[in-house]
Amino acid sequence: MQKTPKKDRYRIGVIGAGAIGLDHIRGFQLHPAAEVVAVADTSAERARQAAEEFGLPEAVLDYAKILSRDDIDVVSIALPNYLHAPVALQALRQGKHVLLEKPMATSGRDAALLVAEARKQRRLLMVGQNLRFDPEVQTARQLVTRGVLGDVYHAKTSWSRRSGIPRIGSWFTQRKFSGGGGLYDIGVHALDRCLYVVGDFDAAAVSGSTFAKFGPQQRGDGDWGKSEIDPRRPFDVDDLAVALIKLRSGRTVLLECAWACHQPLADVNGSHLFGTEAGLSLPNLQVFRNGENGYVTEAIRPLPPLVHPNRMHHFIDCLLGEATPFVPMEESLAVQRILDAIYRSAQTGREVRLPAPPARRAKP
Ligand SMILES: NC(=O)c1ccc[n+]([C@@H]2O[C@H](COP(=O)([O-])OP(=O)(O)OC[C@H]3O[C@@H](n4cnc5c(N)ncnc54)[C@H](O)[C@@H]3O)[C@@H](O)[C@H]2O)c1
Repeated sequence: MQKTPKKDRYRIGVIGAGAIGLDHIRGFQLHPAAEVVAVADTSAERARQAAEEFGLPEAVLDYAKILSRDDIDVVSIALPNYLHAPVALQALRQGKHVLLEKPMATSGRDAALLVAEARKQRRLLMVGQNLRFDPEVQTARQLVTRGVLGDVYHAKTSWSRRSGIPRIGSWFTQRKFSGGGGLYDIGVHALDRCLYVVGDFDAAAVSGSTFAKFGPQQRGDGDWGKSEIDPRRPFDVDDLAVALIKLRSGRTVLLECAWACHQPLADVNGSHLFGTEAGLSLPNLQVFRNGENGYVTEAIRPLPPLVHPNRMHHFIDCLLGEATPFVPMEESLAVQRILDAIYRSAQTGREVRLPAPPARRAKP
């Protein structure tokens, strides 16, 4: 966590006033110690509308105007993926705390630069992995920590939609702007949630495959805004990805994600953990184990909702010293490296081996 002096109030600039940027503004405004003072978007219309809707004093086209303001402590980034790392890096260099949308970057190298800069500047950098804030996910993590499952040796995790490509033809489906397809968009959530619940982010080897069977034919679009189909903007990202991740501990994780595919349900989003004493699945949190009178499937009542109703609120609580980050930046870096390895493995057709994190490598 950052060691800069704590303040009573934090002033925030939100960069990107698209679908999720508005959610960022809304989230911060729920916190009594947070004040959103500016929004930036290259679309003057969207910036103005956001400022009007949320009563913000300033709307700008150029995010540099937010970064150069000394009275802004926090920058919240809700931009297309290719801008995450460069804008976050500039913000950290200007001494801002940064809440960043997922994926953290479009390469492990860039993600590592962010972590190094946040450490150097002693600023809080957090990727807003919102699924971690789900009370069921928090409860699952607690069950694992308490040892209810015994030794968790395998997990499978997925997020697959029948028809859920966000805006075909937009930045989402062009690699130069998104860096990747469904894997970066929803696979990142499924993987992050699973590793968080298992409590192990240290991957040793990754094998993956990616497919694009719907998007290139302009099939499988979802409801995240209107598609912008245009032959000059080819669909060159994945709409289905699978991976086997071998963790250094010996555990394995199977990941499957699809923006679009043929499947029985419209949207499947869950994780299943296999432990020596019990198994666990979510959503609709359940534990499976041998009981005294046979095999038991137990529905678990989740913990009450968190005091922090959302990631923006939680971010401010962390700055105030009232919470420790649910999403440490090192874990997001580890997730980014695994995603990169999946793409590399899909390209080369080979297993990709990942080096141990520096702290581990230093040990005899
Ligand atoms: N955590 C989640 O559940 C979740 C959900 C949806 C999207 N996201 C993430 O949020 C990010 C944004 O997604 P979205 O759906 O809001 O996209 P969007 O296209 O609706 O919004 C992006 C906005 O950024 C603006 N923009 C582009 N370049 C800019 C620049 N240089 N300076 C300022 N503004 C610029 C665009 O005009 C647009 O308004 C993505 O990284 C996406 O992965 C996260």
